[in-house]
Amino acid sequence: MISHALLVICILVSAAVLGLGDATAAYKPTDLFLINCGTSSDTIDSQSQTWTSDQQHLLTSKLKNLSFSSDASYQEEVPQVPYTTARIFLSNVNYSFPVSPGWKYLRLYFYPTRYESGFDTASSFFSVTVNGFTLLKNFSADLTVKASKSKSLVKEFIVPVNQTLNLTFMPSPSSLAFVNGIEIVSMPDGFYSKGGFDNMITNVGSTIDFNIKNTTAFETVHRINVGGQMVDEVGDTGMFRRWLPDDDVILSENSGIIPVVPGVKINYTEKTPPYVAPEDVYKTYRTMGNVDNPEINLNFNMTWLFTVDAGFLYLVRLHFCETLAEVNGPGQRIFTIFLGNQIAKQEMDVIDMSGGSRIPMYLDFNVLVGFENGPRPDLRLGLHPYADIFPKYYDAILNGVEILKLNSSEGSLAGPNPNPLVSSDQTPNHVKPSARKGNNSHVLVITLAVVGSSVVLATFVSVIALLRKKKKTKDVPLHTTSKPTDSCSPLTTYLCRRFSIFEIKYATNDFDEKLIVGTGGFGSVYKGRIDGGTTLVAVKRLGIASKQGAKEFKTELEMLSKLRHVHLVSLIGYCDDENEMVLVYEYMPRGTLKDHLYKRNKASDPPLSWERRLEICIGAARGLQYLHTGAKHAIIHRDIKTTNILLDENYVAKVSDFGLSKVGPTSESQSHVSTVVKGTFGYLDPEYYRRQVLTVKSDVYSFGLVMFEVLCCRLINIEIVPQEQSDLIRWVKSNYIGGTLDQIIDPDLAVDITMISLEKFCEIAVRCVQDRGTERPPMNDVVWGLEFTLQLHETAKKNNEGGTMTDAEALLSKTDDNCVCDPVVGEEPKAL
Ligand SMILES: *[C@@H]1O[C@H](CO)[C@@H](O)[C@H](O)[C@H]1NC(C)=O
Ligand SMILES: *[C@@H]1O[C@H](CO)[C@@H](O)[C@H](O)[C@H]1NC(C)=O
Ligand SMILES: *[C@@H]1O[C@H](CO)[C@@H](O)[C@H](O)[C@H]1NC(C)=O
Ligand SMILES: *[C@@H]1O[C@H](CO)[C@@H](O)[C@H](O)[C@H]1NC(C)=O
Ligand SMILES: *[C@@H]1O[C@H](CO)[C@@H](O)[C@H](O)[C@H]1NC(C)=O
Ligand SMILES: *[C@@H]1O[C@H](CO)[C@@H](O)[C@H](O)[C@H]1NC(C)=O
Ligand SMILES: *[C@@H]1O[C@H](CO)[C@@H](O)[C@H](O)[C@H]1NC(C)=O
Ligand SMILES: *[C@@H]1O[C@H](CO)[C@@H](O)[C@H](O)[C@H]1NC(C)=O
Ligand SMILES: *[C@@H]1O[C@H](CO)[C@@H](O)[C@H](O)[C@H]1NC(C)=O
Repeated sequence: MISHALLVICILVSAAVLGLGDATAAYKPTDLFLINCGTSSDTIDSQSQTWTSDQQHLLTSKLKNLSFSSDASYQEEVPQVPYTTARIFLSNVNYSFPVSPGWKYLRLYFYPTRYESGFDTASSFFSVTVNGFTLLKNFSADLTVKASKSKSLVKEFIVPVNQTLNLTFMPSPSSLAFVNGIEIVSMPDGFYSKGGFDNMITNVGSTIDFNIKNTTAFETVHRINVGGQMVDEVGDTGMFRRWLPDDDVILSENSGIIPVVPGVKINYTEKTPPYVAPEDVYKTYRTMGNVDNPEINLNFNMTWLFTVDAGFLYLVRLHFCETLAEVNGPGQRIFTIFLGNQIAKQEMDVIDMSGGSRIPMYLDFNVLVGFENGPRPDLRLGLHPYADIFPKYYDAILNGVEILKLNSSEGSLAGPNPNPLVSSDQTPNHVKPSARKGNNSHVLVITLAVVGSSVVLATFVSVIALLRKKKKTKDVPLHTTSKPTDSCSPLTTYLCRRFSIFEIKYATNDFDEKLIVGTGGFGSVYKGRIDGGTTLVAVKRLGIASKQGAKEFKTELEMLSKLRHVHLVSLIGYCDDENEMVLVYEYMPRGTLKDHLYKRNKASDPPLSWERRLEICIGAARGLQYLHTGAKHAIIHRDIKTTNILLDENYVAKVSDFGLSKVGPTSESQSHVSTVVKGTFGYLDPEYYRRQVLTVKSDVYSFGLVMFEVLCCRLINIEIVPQEQSDLIRWVKSNYIGGTLDQIIDPDLAVDITMISLEKFCEIAVRCVQDRGTERPPMNDVVWGLEFTLQLHETAKKNNEGGTMTDAEALLSKTDDNCVCDPVVGEEPKAL
């Protein structure tokens, strides 16, 4: 639309300026706001730009002042405008800016220091939203600056806007927010969505079709002029972008060389007009070098490492331009581009793609940054000569890099605050950001008389290997010190999140088989990480062909999204993109109760103590109790078994797998629901099986069997034992009656089980598996009975050690009166 026209204008302008060699006027923004927050009149910065007051954009409340302005108490090496004055927010405050439709750059300027009002930014945490996007969340400008080498900071976002850009500052509880400057600049239509110069975005490491919707917001996390100097706002081609040198991101061992071709002019084209990047970006670059011994280049990758937040999609834009006279045709310099250890482009031939020497081009890639390298990973960009087709030069080239973070499916761009680099008073080399590397370039330039034809390898030779400054080596690289805080987990704010398939694929390393922690009839369960790697989750993915599974997934989602209990496994969210059905749960590091009973590694994994087993039973019983009585209508689980009782890291038991669960009777008069029999053979209530009526007592029956297994460490049905032992229920029952229980229990329990608790436990378990449902206790009573059993055990154990023998009996006789120990006697089954 309007920006289309703009594009045309830009191209015309660029064509016009080409002859003059002045490319800086390439783009004239239609929207431009430069706001010096907290001031009341216009101010002029060192580069003669006029910044206006923020007052007319502030949506103020008539009732009280929600913000005030204050001047910085110190001014350490930051430009005066816009950093010396701040607007400080006491509460949520909105700014509003009228803009034309389309994407806008939004730059926020922060100078964390003390202000004259007494406000100290060290205690300031806040969030920033714009038109529904969360840009920053519980953000600390102070921590962010301490993790960098400068004293001030600019956050650049790219947000889609229709008519108004509403910017909201929201202080975290008992905190204030602040901002020093706001800048809004328009850009050419679809500048970051249409793809590179070939209108394509290559999806790295995935075959999923990817295009950038016009509802996407970005954050610029890196913009680098490879091999060159900083290009500041004024040096940019119209959009006031800042391009930084690559010293901090190039992997220092193989840093390559920086060829210099004096007086070169970049031949911009319609596909790569001047606004894409200034001449300085395309004129300077890095190559691998080693002209005399090119085979060396086959031994390494020229590598850059970029700090990013995990769990986001990134748009990586790479800029290329060959300017050496001897690299003048296709097939001469061919290399492979790796992004995040994956091949992004196998055969990259700049001249072949761009059409000639000095013609710039840029390519866009989309890459998922997962969690392989820990919580705050680096995005690795590597270039390697592609030798298979025998190019003339075993070398690679790169001129510029832009890395943009795309918003998550919840519309958030916020990452965690970094950890400070070093304490601020030690921070070396307080570099003024806009003066960084300005006059002390470390690149030795040898000026050559370049005359078109005769320059051959001479140019390579004239090139000087890059020497890294001694001072620089003292600096700690940013990317090794940043760690996320766990403060930003959205888990607390969303009861049940909807995940995009991208997030799920990030979380599971694209369903990496190595991360499978369980499989079932429905599909597989993967261990994954979300929220920037900070939260471990279990990701259950439905197998493609399972219709029954699809129904169970829906049931589980419906049930679990409404239930929250410490003894029920929590559902974090789900994903139903692209015909996938995925459920995301809290991760249970200690796995299933079943594995602890039967599959444990005797050497490394001690058997569960009797006390712990009782606690696990109590936990699972409480979970069931909650299902049966905690919600408006009883919920019948229908599939209680040792595989569906999971243990967290502290062995707290949680009931899982609600795929078969059913809402119980919904009226007083009804006591059951009629339904087709489902469940797991062996755990199935015989009454339910016979009569096809389901009550909460069916779960009680299954729970009784779990208790038997916990006690005997023996599967419910086994063939290889004598007949009378093959059915666990009958076997336990007969030993219970015969008083020989101690002979059938798990031998590992023999050391610490107390007789009195054993008897009590069996009594409850035997009641649970009564043939008639009405004779089985409700879960309430099972919980009480088990808690009492634990109490008996603890008392008896203490007495065995200490010598006084009668406490347990005393306790027993005392509570006997209250009927707690024998809850079932004389009690009518509760109306369901
Ligand atoms: C609000 O702020 C203005 C100037 O910033 C000041 O003159 C006025 O007294 C303040 N009003 C209140 C109620 O604090
Ligand atoms: C400020 O913006 C937020 C969200 O954008 C909105 O909910 C709130 O009503 C706005 N407040 C004012 C005073 O405009
Ligand atoms: C921005 O705020 C104004 C006034 O509060 C409101 O009318 C408008 O709908 C908002 N626009 C967006 C995109 O939120
Ligand atoms: C932009 O805003 C106008 C007026 O508020 C509205 O009619 C139009 O539908 C909006 N366009 C989009 C794409 O949201
Ligand atoms: C976004 O794209 C949709 C479909 O491509 C289009 O209908 C809509 O007008 C676009 N919105 C804006 C603000 O450009
Ligand atoms: C710029 O490149 C075009 C091809 O894209 C070529 O025709 C033209 O001659 C070049 N201009 C200069 C000044 O090199
Ligand atoms: C270059 O990087 C890729 C991807 O990270 C890696 O697989 C390859 O082994 C590297 N090559 C060399 C020679 O280091
Ligand atoms: C970014 O947020 C928008 C709006 O919330 C959403 O439509 C879009 O899908 C999100 N982008 C990604 C990559 O999730
Ligand atoms: C914000 O971060 C700080 C420091 O990490 C933390 O103490 C605080 O609880 C966080 N606040 C919120 C609302 O997350």
